[in-house]
Amino acid sequence: IQRFPLTEVQGVPLRKWIAQNWSSIWAFCPHPSDLLISTYPKSGTTWVQEIVDLLRNNGDDEICKRAPTTERSPFLEVHYPPPIPSGLDLLKKVKPPRVIKTHLPIQLVPKGFWENKCKVIYVARNAKDNVISYYHFDRMNLIHPDPGSWEEYLQKFMEGKLAWGSWYDHVKGYWKEKEKRNILYMFFEDMKENPRREILRIMRYLDLSLSDDIIDKIVELTSFKAMKNNPMANYSTIPKIIFDQSISAFMRKGEVGDWTNYFTLAQSQMFDEDYARQMADVNIPFRTSI
Ligand code: A3P
Repeated sequence: IQRFPLTEVQGVPLRKWIAQNWSSIWAFCPHPSDLLISTYPKSGTTWVQEIVDLLRNNGDDEICKRAPTTERSPFLEVHYPPPIPSGLDLLKKVKPPRVIKTHLPIQLVPKGFWENKCKVIYVARNAKDNVISYYHFDRMNLIHPDPGSWEEYLQKFMEGKLAWGSWYDHVKGYWKEKEKRNILYMFFEDMKENPRREILRIMRYLDLSLSDDIIDKIVELTSFKAMKNNPMANYSTIPKIIFDQSISAFMRKGEVGDWTNYFTLAQSQMFDEDYARQMADVNIPFRTSI
């Protein structure tokens, strides 16, 4: 396996296996009971996947230990190079109601999700921490293009040239549709601030009702520390030739505000100016600290 350049689908840079299999991904039709978890990469996808799985299994972590996150809620889009099975292959083997994960921007989500009124949870993370997390991820994710220097990487992020395209378009696309399409729009920072409150939001959205004791247990099992030590959640089942976690761990820091350790003052000012331009048409309440 080597690092691969990205291939565009409708102007969005994606991994080449996604572009190659685009017609079958676009044709995928979910069941109305299926749940979609969507994010821009590194916004807290795995965290929400783990919460959802535990909620749906009444807090029974033995069930969640039977398979890694990647199999319990497969990627809608083809993810890894063959012969590793694609997300679609995995999905077709599981009966609804399924949990399906995607990083696709809203315009590339197959129409069946909207026609069948599937529930959709979207998680967003403030841009500065998001790009830091993505930078470290791309250093260890050996099938993505080489991240280059931090300076270069930041530029690519601002220009929407990283895998899955523009963060700005991604968070805005789901935000603008959230009422019309009944999307539960969540923030990483809210989950850090008060995990219990946010777990309850997900519980209500899924029309579930669990006891306080079970919610306490889920808060515990989905803490950063518990997930970092859980081989079914920390991506240690992905081969080292794809994710080399000796370079940077998948469960890296899990904090809000880590960007302050990387952005220079000049970079931060330049980023903020550009941010104001790119986000001028919306008012999404992102926080870069809590
Ligand atoms: P960092 O790189 O900042 O540590 P995704 O699952 O979308 O790829 O996101 C991964 C990011 O979410 C990583 O961020 C990871 O540490 C963080 N994360 C995962 N589980 C978490 C948890 N339970 N609590 C806090 N952060 C978590």
